[in-house]
Amino acid sequence: MLTIQGLTKIYQAHTALYPTDLTFEASRFSVLLGPSGAGKSTLLRCLNQLTVPTGGTVEIEGIGSIDTASKRHALRCMTGFVFQQHQLIFRQTALANVLNGRLGCTPLWRSLLPWSRKDVTDALGCLERVGLLDFALTRAGRLSGGQQQRVGIARALAQKPRIILADEPVASLDPAKSEEILELLLKICREDGICTVVSLHQVDLARKFADRVIALKDGRVVFDAPPNELSESALKEIYTSGGDVSSQPEEETGENELAVLEAKAA
Ligand SMILES: Nc1ncnc2c1ncn2[C@@H]1O[C@H](COP(=O)(O)OP(=O)(O)O)[C@@H](O)[C@H]1O
Ligand SMILES: [Mg+2]
Repeated sequence: MLTIQGLTKIYQAHTALYPTDLTFEASRFSVLLGPSGAGKSTLLRCLNQLTVPTGGTVEIEGIGSIDTASKRHALRCMTGFVFQQHQLIFRQTALANVLNGRLGCTPLWRSLLPWSRKDVTDALGCLERVGLLDFALTRAGRLSGGQQQRVGIARALAQKPRIILADEPVASLDPAKSEEILELLLKICREDGICTVVSLHQVDLARKFADRVIALKDGRVVFDAPPNELSESALKEIYTSGGDVSSQPEEETGENELAVLEAKAA
């Protein structure tokens, strides 16, 4: 349902994403892996054009190629983005944060009026789905990290998205909470038939939850297969710098990835 062709991003002279072709299907849970700086966030942000790509196309089933401002708006409206740091307004209630998810797709004149009863009921429904109905009137800043991420997901759901993009949504959570959040995203992906793309640092979580793993390295896709094909040698290829592996300085590999490789080697 979401196809990119030749999608490219160049920042000044630095190519963060080389021309990339991928197709993402509805109801599928794809995980992006790769060392820090590999281009995961760039790819996610180019998918819904939070970052304007330097080249290539993004095509959505039912809309076509995203080549006008109105199609870009339609793409953003149908795409829920979940951030690592939630991007919540801490002094507002969980409910108000979820309602904010609808603002981008509400005409300006409408957004100046109070929320309708239906808007509020729908937003409460989103909080119920993430298990936070009892916290609807609690200020976001008083919630735990895991609860805040649930509000972030409820806010994405308030858009009634066909696509969910999540950029390291569990990077600041402990392992148990991380699994809970990914279970929730996977459940929503399946129940609502949402095309879901999540970037992660943890290989084990990718193995557990992904239908498909796409690994990026230095702005290029270097692996694209089901998680059971993520062998030790594939992981080494993904997480070590190019050239002669043994001669690379350690700091060129991200701390988390090194820890994973070391744990595997032990
Ligand atoms: N706004 C920006 N300006 C310049 N360079 C950027 C910007 N955002 C990302 N980059 C660079 O693009 C590359 C890919 O970054 P990013 O997509 O954030 O990687 P990842 O999410 O895999 O860690 C990195 O080299 C990063 O420094
Ligand atoms: Mg990133």
